[in-house]
Amino acid sequence: MPAPGRDAKILMTFPVTGSSHLLAEARARGQYGTLAKVLATMAPADVTKEVGASGLQGRGGAAFPTGRKWSVVRYDDGQPHYLCANADEGEPGTFKDRWILENTPHQLIESMLISAYALQVRHAFVYMRGEFAGPYRRLQAALDEAYAAGLVGENILGSGFSCDIIVYRGAGSYVCGEASALITSIEGKRGYPRNRPPRLTVKGLYQRPTVINNVETLANVAWIMEHGAAAFKAIGCPKAPGTRLISISGHIARPGVYEIEYGYSWKKLIHDDCGGMLEGAELKCVIPGGISTKVLTAAEIDQLALDPAEVEPAGSSMGSGGMVAIAEGTCMVRLLQVMLRFYHHESCGQCTPCREGMGWLHRIIDRIVAGQGRAADLDQMLLISRLQDGNTICGMGDAAGFATIGILAKYRHEFEHWIGTGRSMFEGNLECRRSS
Ligand SMILES: Cc1cc2nc3c(=O)[nH]c(=O)nc-3n(C[C@H](O)[C@H](O)[C@H](O)COP(=O)(O)O)c2cc1C
Ligand code: SF4
Repeated sequence: MPAPGRDAKILMTFPVTGSSHLLAEARARGQYGTLAKVLATMAPADVTKEVGASGLQGRGGAAFPTGRKWSVVRYDDGQPHYLCANADEGEPGTFKDRWILENTPHQLIESMLISAYALQVRHAFVYMRGEFAGPYRRLQAALDEAYAAGLVGENILGSGFSCDIIVYRGAGSYVCGEASALITSIEGKRGYPRNRPPRLTVKGLYQRPTVINNVETLANVAWIMEHGAAAFKAIGCPKAPGTRLISISGHIARPGVYEIEYGYSWKKLIHDDCGGMLEGAELKCVIPGGISTKVLTAAEIDQLALDPAEVEPAGSSMGSGGMVAIAEGTCMVRLLQVMLRFYHHESCGQCTPCREGMGWLHRIIDRIVAGQGRAADLDQMLLISRLQDGNTICGMGDAAGFATIGILAKYRHEFEHWIGTGRSMFEGNLECRRSS
């Protein structure tokens, strides 16, 4: 069971028991009471207003204000609207949505129903990555229980509001987590991202207004409606209210999912809550929010709180909440090689800078590792990364560039050593061999 971060206010996590995913236990914790209250007493527009006032921001990576996204949808235009929970969770290092799906699926279902009511959605979807067999079984079983209890489907709790929730399983493509690719995939086509405008809230699934939110974003909604926007805003930081689920992995003594309040000390999370580094190793650096966010050194994170207002000026972002702690002695050349292999493999190939750029970056780093690096290689990698930034349909082109620029800016000497000597600075180190 993941331990919540010390001092954190708890919105999401709770002691996990063998039955905490079941409807009876969810109801004993008070779940679905907020749904009943909202359906009986609130107008849809008031729900959107409350979510907007809470300052809730997207937890999928871009931190877009949720209320602002919802407010674009004209919920009373008589047209079908759609809501999709993004449960693709493909960003390497990120596994916090999985925690929600497995341990508290009713928190997501109740929150989705409240959100669907605000947007007047008749059919809502959960788009789940293909590899999530266990989370799928848990969520589907929870939905079956909720349907049987009259909490989902026709005339929910006798309110006159009807909403079905459909779980759609992807086939394991990273790019299908991107919102427009996700929609295309649900429509049964190849999961290609598409250019905007039009925005998805104007023309999304089946050409209708569609809201796509991350699982964790949506799971906050029931709490906000139960306790009020002001209570939510009182937690965390002025520009980033609420708590955050951080999934932490890497060379850390106690990896897992931790719920922290925005503004929590980074040092405390790693060294106290997570028990520090494995086998007493020193921390070298941290990838803060999925591999698409720029690496921060141990010295940098010592000075920072887990607050976007501090992390962004330091040149990175809290991204998807997928943190990877890396120990001293780890070879950053090998690490970047693994990342570039991933990006190259996952590029959908529509945009030339991404399709070709990923291939070039991957081939250059493979050549460096094979001992045939050239002096000009590093500047060439930086140039390719910069050319990808902002020149592609979706954010994946930018992401690979961020990872490369971030690592080269801080660990260029490790690459120069490999090019100069034909071998890693850390040859013989276990981690250097492991990532090959
Ligand atoms: C290549 C790529 C992959 C993405 N994968 C995910 C994902 O697995 N889960 C997710 O919630 N958002 C992912 N996103 C972000 C989504 O496009 C979208 O911004 C997000 O689901 C919106 O939800 P939010 O506003 O609640 O954060 C991805 C974006 C890109 C460019
Ligand atoms: S940036 Fe890459 S993954 Fe995204 S649409 Fe273009 S080619 Fe596909």
